[in-house]
Amino acid sequence: MPQIFTATADTRLRAVLLLLALLLVAAVLFAGGYMQSSYATLVGWVQDQPVPFSHQHHVGGLGIDCRYCHSTVEVSEHAGLPATEVCMTCHSQLWTGAPMLAPIRRSLATGEPIRWQRVARLPDYVYFDHSIHIARGVPCVECHGRVDQMPLMKRAEPFQMGWCLDCHRNPAPHLKPPEQITRMDWTEWEKDPEAHRLYGALMMKAYGIEPSTLDDCSMCHR
Ligand code: HEC
Ligand code: HEC
Ligand code: HEC
Ligand code: HEC
Ligand code: HEC
Repeated sequence: MPQIFTATADTRLRAVLLLLALLLVAAVLFAGGYMQSSYATLVGWVQDQPVPFSHQHHVGGLGIDCRYCHSTVEVSEHAGLPATEVCMTCHSQLWTGAPMLAPIRRSLATGEPIRWQRVARLPDYVYFDHSIHIARGVPCVECHGRVDQMPLMKRAEPFQMGWCLDCHRNPAPHLKPPEQITRMDWTEWEKDPEAHRLYGALMMKAYGIEPSTLDDCSMCHR
C-alpha cells in the first residue's frame, strides 16, 4: 500500500497545529488584556475641552455642590451639563477679561452652547438612570471618583457591564446617607465598619432592593 503521509509531512502537520494553538492562546490573552486596558475602558484619559474647566478649583477649592451645575441629577436619567448662564453667575464679575473664558463669553453672546467633550458615556444600547441611583443613596464618587481632585475631568471607572453588575449583585456596602451623596471625602464609616454594615442591611430592606433581579438583562438593555 502506498504511503499517503510521509514521515516529514506528519511532522510538518504537527508543527502547523502547534503554531495555530499558540496563536489562539496569544489572541485570547491579547483580547483579555485589551478589554482591561485603559485603551478600551478609557479610565484616566482626559479630553481637550473648549475651556479648561477645573472641578478641582470649583468643587475642591470653592466647595460648589455638584447639583449647582448638574441640576437634573436627582430627577432625571441625565445629570445634565451646565448652561453658559450658570458659569456667568460668577464669571460676569470674576476673571471677566480672561482669554481662557473667551469661549464662554462668545457662547453667551451668540446663544450657542459650549460643546464639551464627553468623558463619561455609555453606548446607546445601554439604559442608565441617575435619579434611581441617587434616590437609593449611591454617591457620585462611587462612579465618578474624586472629581474634586481633577484639574481636568477624566473617567474614574471602566463603565463596562461587569463593573455595573459587581455593584448590582451586592449594593449594600455602596449605599450612603442621602445628605452625603455629593460629598467626595466622607469617610466616617471607615472608622465604624459595623455601623456601615448595619446601615447597608437596613437600607436594602427599607428600599426593597432585590439583588437577584438587578442583573436581569432587560433592566439595562431595553
Ligand atoms: C460660584 C462661582 C463660580 C461659578 C458658578 C463658576 N466659576 Fe469658574 N471660577 C470661579 C472662581 C472664584 C475662580 C478662580 C479660582 C481660583 O483661582 O482658584 C474660577 C476660575 C475659573 C477658570 C480659570 C481656571 C481655574 O480653574 O482657576 C475657568 C476656566 C473657569 N473658572 C471656568 C468656569 C466655567 C466654564 C464655569 C461654568 C461651567 C464656571 N467657571 C463657573 C468661580 C465660579
Ligand atoms: C461650577 C460647575 C460645576 C460643578 C460644581 C460640578 N461640575 Fe461636573 N462638569 C461641569 C462642566 C462644565 C463639565 C463639562 C466639562 C468637563 O468635562 O470638565 C462637567 C463634567 C462633569 C462630568 C463628565 C461628564 C461627561 O460625560 O463628560 C462628570 C462625571 C461630572 N462633571 C461630575 C461632577 C460631580 C460628581 C460634581 C460634584 C462633586 C461636579 N461635577 C460638580 C461643571 C460642574
Ligand atoms: C451608579 C453610577 C453613577 C452614579 C452614582 C452617578 N453617575 Fe453620573 N454617570 C454615570 C454613567 C454610567 C454616566 C454615562 C451615562 C450615559 O452615557 O448614558 C454618567 C454621566 C454623568 C454626566 C454626564 C452628563 C449626563 O447627564 O449624562 C454627569 C455630568 C454626571 N454623570 C454627574 C453625576 C453626578 C453629579 C452624580 C452624583 C450626584 C453622579 N453623576 C452619580 C454613572 C453614575
Ligand atoms: C455602586 C453601585 C451601583 C453601580 C456601580 C451601578 N448601579 Fe445601577 N443600581 C444600583 C442600585 C442600588 C439600584 C436601585 C435598585 C432598586 O432600587 O431596586 C440600581 C438600579 C439600576 C437600574 C434600575 C432603574 C429603574 O428605573 O428601575 C438600572 C437600569 C441601572 N441601575 C443601570 C446601571 C448601569 C447601566 C450601570 C453601569 C453603567 C449601573 N447601574 C451601575 C447600584 C449601582
Ligand atoms: C446593570 C446593567 C446591565 C445588565 C443587568 C446587563 N448588562 Fe449587558 N451591558 C451593560 C453595559 C454597561 C454594557 C456596555 C459595555 C461596554 O461598553 O464595554 C453592556 C454590554 C453588553 C453586550 C455587548 C458586548 C459587551 O460585552 O460589551 C452584550 C452582548 C450584553 N451586554 C448582554 C447582556 C446580557 C445577555 C445580559 C443578561 C444576562 C446583560 N447584558 C445584563 C450593562 C448591563
